[in-house]
Amino acid sequence: MGNKKRILFVCLGNTCRSPIVEAVFMDLVKRAGVQRDWEIDSAAIEAWHVGNRPNPRAVAVMEKYCLAYDNRARHITTDDFYKFDYILAMDEYNVEDLTELRPDDAKAQIFLLGDFDPEGERIIRDPYCDTNSDGFDKCYHQAVRSCKSFLEDMNTN
Ligand code: 4NP
Repeated sequence: MGNKKRILFVCLGNTCRSPIVEAVFMDLVKRAGVQRDWEIDSAAIEAWHVGNRPNPRAVAVMEKYCLAYDNRARHITTDDFYKFDYILAMDEYNVEDLTELRPDDAKAQIFLLGDFDPEGERIIRDPYCDTNSDGFDKCYHQAVRSCKSFLEDMNTN
């Protein structure tokens, strides 16, 4: 389909937050029967985890909520800013980095995912260094709220 909407979820390592959010978004569009309208991907600001499956605690959260996920970490490219319509970041540092990397004539709009959270929780905190899995679970719930509301905005605008 020529008028697919393209969305890229970005975090620092593409190993914790953005894979969970990507899996949530894929699940939501599938359930809504609109998966053919969307191209969905995720990427990292830093290349540290390129080629790897997500962090085991992120995988465990996806399994807990029955989310399918088969992607591996990749590094964001300049082309991404021309290819994707929306780039959704997890925290304000991601937004700063993305804004710096974005070429002036690129089409991608950069948003903070949490700006769509109806509960107003704007930042998806990086749980990578946490000693337990609570931050991963919390990321999942923030992702569900924000992605649902983002999709509703897409359908009404
Ligand atoms: P993510 O979390 O950005 O949610 O994937 C991180 C992953 C790796 C690192 C930091 C945050 N790291 O320092 O390697």
